[in-house]
Amino acid sequence: MTAAGGGGGGGGEADVEALVAPAAARVAAATTTAQLDEARTEVLGKRSALSAARQQVGALDAAARPAAGQRLNEARRRIEELLEARRAELDAAERAARLEAERLDLTELLAPARRGRLHLVQRTRDELEDVFVGMGFVVAEGPEAETDWYNFEALHMPPAHPARGMWDTLYLELGEPETVLLRTHTSPVQIRLLQAQGPPVYAVMPGTCFRRDTPDARHIPTFHQIEGLVVDRGISFADLAGTIEAFTTAYFGPDIHSRLRPSYFPFTEPSAEFEITCTICKGSGCRTCSHTGWIELGGCGMVDPAVLAAVGVDAETWTGFAFGFGIDRCAQMRHELPDMRALLENDVRLLRQI
Ligand code: FA5
Repeated sequence: MTAAGGGGGGGGEADVEALVAPAAARVAAATTTAQLDEARTEVLGKRSALSAARQQVGALDAAARPAAGQRLNEARRRIEELLEARRAELDAAERAARLEAERLDLTELLAPARRGRLHLVQRTRDELEDVFVGMGFVVAEGPEAETDWYNFEALHMPPAHPARGMWDTLYLELGEPETVLLRTHTSPVQIRLLQAQGPPVYAVMPGTCFRRDTPDARHIPTFHQIEGLVVDRGISFADLAGTIEAFTTAYFGPDIHSRLRPSYFPFTEPSAEFEITCTICKGSGCRTCSHTGWIELGGCGMVDPAVLAAVGVDAETWTGFAFGFGIDRCAQMRHELPDMRALLENDVRLLRQI
């Protein structure tokens, strides 16, 4: 007779212990719920010691069977309790580990995402457009890659004209040599507009220009201009001067004024440089304005009759004025930037504050 089968009476407690103790050790050795499932099969399943003991009960005397059966039930109950307790422990540990691994710290404070903003040159361009639209102008645009004809010839600069030297030109390797170029100014858009619609014209034409200029505090090779063109009946130089002054005070404020100084451009006659009060010293003279109190913003003049003739506009009926000035130069003056190259460096410390 085996211990588990128990002959009855006195050995009963020991038999139960003999079944429970090894099962308890096995259950305690399981460190995961999966291992505990395996342990359960080993201690309660068909091949367990408990199952073997149960089979032997049938071989006992009929009188001894109930007591033996009770002892085995007792052993099973205690093993199941052990399994249940161990499962509760392991479940709690696994749940704690999972919570730790999947922890979402909802108390964490993140800095709000920074909003991007338009580059200063783009904003200046938008503001300049607004000022001119408020004065009754429309906005037009032209291509950045131009032909020699639009950039020079139609603007009264035939091939080899010395005035072409005023613009250090970047040519594209396209077609005949030196026939296609990156526009050096926005003036070719005057020609395109007159071809497209004819007078009367009240338009501004902003855009990117390119020159082989050496970068310095007031020049960059890729820069921006805004061109203005008015062609109508009876337009005079006084209209030009008045328009420039109205623009200057509208954009720079009532303390800043404009003045025109005689100059030369092949496509305007007479021509002038247009200057504004130095925004840094308000006209009293400083290093930025070379102690003159004035800063050059662009060129202007009355549209040369030869330009009108190039696009078939009758210069007897129509007269007009044009101007072209630097958008980057405006941004520089308005925001008092000592060096224009800062506009190209994309230093976020600068871009963020303006
Ligand atoms: C012209 O480009 C003429 N097309 C302007 C004009 C238009 C005259 C219509 C008459 C009638 P100018 O080369 O001076 O002119 O350039 C005009 C302005 O563009 C300059 O005063 C300056 O503000 C800006 N500019 C020129 N070159 C650069 C550069 N490399 N970097 C930044 N701004 C520039």
